[in-house]
Amino acid sequence: MSERPIGVFDSGLGGLTVLRSLIDLLPDEPMLYFGDTGRFPYGPKPHEEVLKYALEIAELLVARDAKLLVVACNSATSVALEVLRERLDIPVVGVIEPGLRAAARATRSGRVGVIGTVGTVASGSYQRAAAALPDAVDLTCAACPGFVEFVESGDVHSDQVHVLAERLLAPVREAQVDTLVLGCTHYPLLARTIGDVMGHDVVLISSADETAFSVRALVEAHGLRAPAGAEARHAFVTSGDTAVFRELGARFLGPEVETVEAWSWS
Ligand code: DGL
Repeated sequence: MSERPIGVFDSGLGGLTVLRSLIDLLPDEPMLYFGDTGRFPYGPKPHEEVLKYALEIAELLVARDAKLLVVACNSATSVALEVLRERLDIPVVGVIEPGLRAAARATRSGRVGVIGTVGTVASGSYQRAAAALPDAVDLTCAACPGFVEFVESGDVHSDQVHVLAERLLAPVREAQVDTLVLGCTHYPLLARTIGDVMGHDVVLISSADETAFSVRALVEAHGLRAPAGAEARHAFVTSGDTAVFRELGARFLGPEVETVEAWSWS
């Protein structure tokens, strides 16, 4: 039993899509969420820089007694998961392998699309994860620069997002995928637009639920479960504007986002 929080982080608001599934699946667990909004987007940044950010955030969350770390960001998972697992004494969960596992289960044709940030797609992390699957899948990956910025500005279904989606999703449409992995945790917030462009025959896969199942299994395996019935309290910290985080966080996650603590890297 452990009343320590589960630490969750992302470059900004996107990881809240994973946090929603975590809270729903593990209602007794207190969560500590860090959104690095002051330094987003991670996608276009060099890998070494994103790795440095991930290590800094992990240190912060461990110092606040996190019992398990969820890297709720594909860009950070791509470049930092292995290093974090080597360096930390607590279990670390990423979002890439769970998302791809869910897609492999869902596809009928074996043609799976993955959309993500420039950093995630360039890292080849999805191809590596696909090579480790028991059944082969035919992956088509496409970077979607600009999507994250729309989400962080609170715009998830304007005409402008739709026009951008039409252009960026062309490669996965042409590949005739029947399943599309939303390989950036911000993208489930654009699901309506992405679904409209892809058409209703394409299954959209968010890594959130599958990641939450992995976290639950690890919490059980390591004897880290919070005592049942205790009212779980969640904490939110951002390196960006707290008022914006609170407003958009409450919209994207729900009423759990009450107070938001400011964090400064300087
Ligand atoms: N939500 C993130 C991801 O899953 C990061 C997006 C960004 O900051 O570029 O990749």
